[in-house]
Amino acid sequence: MLSPRTEPWAVAAARVRDVKDEAPGVQTYWIELSEAGDRETYAAKPGQFNMLYMPGVGEAAISLSHLPSPGGQLVHTVRSVGNVTRALAVTKAGDSLGVRGPFGSYWPLERGIGKDLILVAGGIGLAPLRPLVDEILSHRQQFGRVSLLIGARTPSDLLYTDDYESWRTADIEVQTTVDRAAADWKGNVGVVTLLLNRLGITSPLQTMIFTCGPEVMMTYAIRAVRERGVPRENLWVSLERNMNCAIGQCGHCQLGPHFICKEGPVLRYDQVKNWMHVDSL
Ligand SMILES: Cc1cc2nc3c(=O)[nH]c(=O)nc-3n(C[C@H](O)[C@H](O)[C@H](O)COP(=O)(O)OP(=O)(O)OC[C@H]3O[C@@H](n4cnc5c(N)ncnc54)[C@H](O)[C@@H]3O)c2cc1C
Ligand code: FES
Repeated sequence: MLSPRTEPWAVAAARVRDVKDEAPGVQTYWIELSEAGDRETYAAKPGQFNMLYMPGVGEAAISLSHLPSPGGQLVHTVRSVGNVTRALAVTKAGDSLGVRGPFGSYWPLERGIGKDLILVAGGIGLAPLRPLVDEILSHRQQFGRVSLLIGARTPSDLLYTDDYESWRTADIEVQTTVDRAAADWKGNVGVVTLLLNRLGITSPLQTMIFTCGPEVMMTYAIRAVRERGVPRENLWVSLERNMNCAIGQCGHCQLGPHFICKEGPVLRYDQVKNWMHVDSL
């Protein structure tokens, strides 16, 4: 049985069921655990990750980009950058892989009940935020204004573009921006913090920020909202570090006193501010 609590090293057998090209170098994989027992017991929360094992290559930490329903498939969106992710990129439906997980902390959405929520995503950082969007949609009436600000390098790098309209219809304000526009792009150009600066934050003390993306982007996003009066304890980041064991034993993922695999990847900003170097505000 797949349980990171009792058998953190157990690799569950799985198969790729479907692959979708999301953007250049980025694909979404639907993965089915082979054992019925594993499928029934697997449960994760938004922001958690699995270790995906490519036979003969190794493991990589990859966030869930959808929450699995009991018996359902695992969904991961992956940017191909190195050994494991390149091996994954050439898989096709029916190919085998291994899964350990889920691991790590999750977005503390319960703290956002009754508050305005701002989700800030950069590049592949939208993948770990997407289950949070799903969770918000399931309980939309519990939150105030919800804004999702998405930055990408170019328009073709924007992820999940097919979903934006349905998210907007469900009362999530979706705004996008790109670093470099294409000829037919009529949207925003510039860093994602420009969107933040334009966003009216009417009740800063009642606003929660959840952000994932390059650390420099998260740093500027945090700076922008701190200037507008959002308190430190309402700021949540998801951090990436090299991972090996994912269970707090190897030290690869250490950030100051924190092991990102256990205490993270989702951490309150004021827990990691000394290592993100933006606490001058
Ligand atoms: C909690 C968590 C969640 C994550 N979620 C996702 C996700 O949802 N989607 C996603 O795409 N990624 C995600 N990542 C990132 C992913 O785990 C890393 O990109 C991982 O390193 C990929 O493994 P790999 O074997 O393909 O790449 P690696 O081989 O580990 O290479 C990673 C990077 O290091 C560089 N590199 C490799 N070898 C060398 C070398 N010898 N010298 C110098 N540089 C080198 C590569 O160019 C690449 O940029 C997550 C990471 C964490 C910690
Ligand atoms: S990955 Fe080994 S301690 Fe975190």
